[in-house]
Amino acid sequence: MSTPLVWKTPEEVRAWVASQRGKRIALVPTMGFLHDGHLTLMREGGRRAELVTASIFVNPTQFGPKEDLSRYPRDPEGDLKRCASAGVVGVYMPEPSSVYPSGYQTYVNVEEVSQGLDGDKRPGHFRGVATVVTKLLALFRPDVALFGEKDWQQLQVITRLNADLELGVEIVGMPTIRESDGLAMSSRNSYLSADERKRALGLSRGLFAAQKLAAGGEKDVSKLLAAIRAELAAVNAREDYVEICDASSLKTLSTLSPGQRARGLVAAFMGSTRLIDNLAIELG
Ligand code: PAJ
Repeated sequence: MSTPLVWKTPEEVRAWVASQRGKRIALVPTMGFLHDGHLTLMREGGRRAELVTASIFVNPTQFGPKEDLSRYPRDPEGDLKRCASAGVVGVYMPEPSSVYPSGYQTYVNVEEVSQGLDGDKRPGHFRGVATVVTKLLALFRPDVALFGEKDWQQLQVITRLNADLELGVEIVGMPTIRESDGLAMSSRNSYLSADERKRALGLSRGLFAAQKLAAGGEKDVSKLLAAIRAELAAVNAREDYVEICDASSLKTLSTLSPGQRARGLVAAFMGSTRLIDNLAIELG
């Protein structure tokens, strides 16, 4: 378990990548404050490539003016230890001015799957995500890059940009890692008070309830949505959105059909903290 290399600039990354010619490289992009969800992506990277790399960068372009950029949790030293424990050989930890130097003006916009859900509630968010992920994939030129299903819409955006821009990276989506009671792991869970932490279970409870109803044959989406909303109401969570969508196009559904891959997606506020979660919904 040796300490990973730390790269601060794109030049340092490029020089390292050039020195590793012929070796399979995996990349796990993150914003840090790492938990088991992130570490699972890194360990899976180690099964799919010889060298696992990561980035830790709280990307300013994906935060709205009223969002939590300045208070986003950070723990660079702890994160490096966690990366080492997951077999990561190098971590890119740039300053914002290295990623977006003065004069910067190029952005990536994925048109359709960036709309609806978080795309509507967080204007500009996916433009920032798509831009930084494109830059990271172009810089590292990894064979494989790993992302979590926890951010389902983000995973669809990244899969799309990789195909459309012919980047040729294998994009791997990994299942959401949950706490033992069902709460999806998230760096933002650290904002929750003890009471909010308990009530935050309403999101996953609602999604599991909808999943069970669908498995039992319920195809009326309005009934599934009502089941999710009941759990949100029970914990006094403020809904931002609740939807059942086609799993890849993210078009809203009103009824489920047999064999269709659908996804239940929720965003809700617990106090001032905004949490998201999603789950596969399939008609039984
Ligand atoms: P961040 O929220 O730090 O997440 C980094 C990666 O970890 C993402 O692919 C995310 O989906 C995954 N992840 C988060 N929680 C998870 C969980 N409980 N189980 C499994 N995977 C989980 O997502 C971002 O950063 C940024 O938008 C980024 C892609 C790095 C671009 O800035």
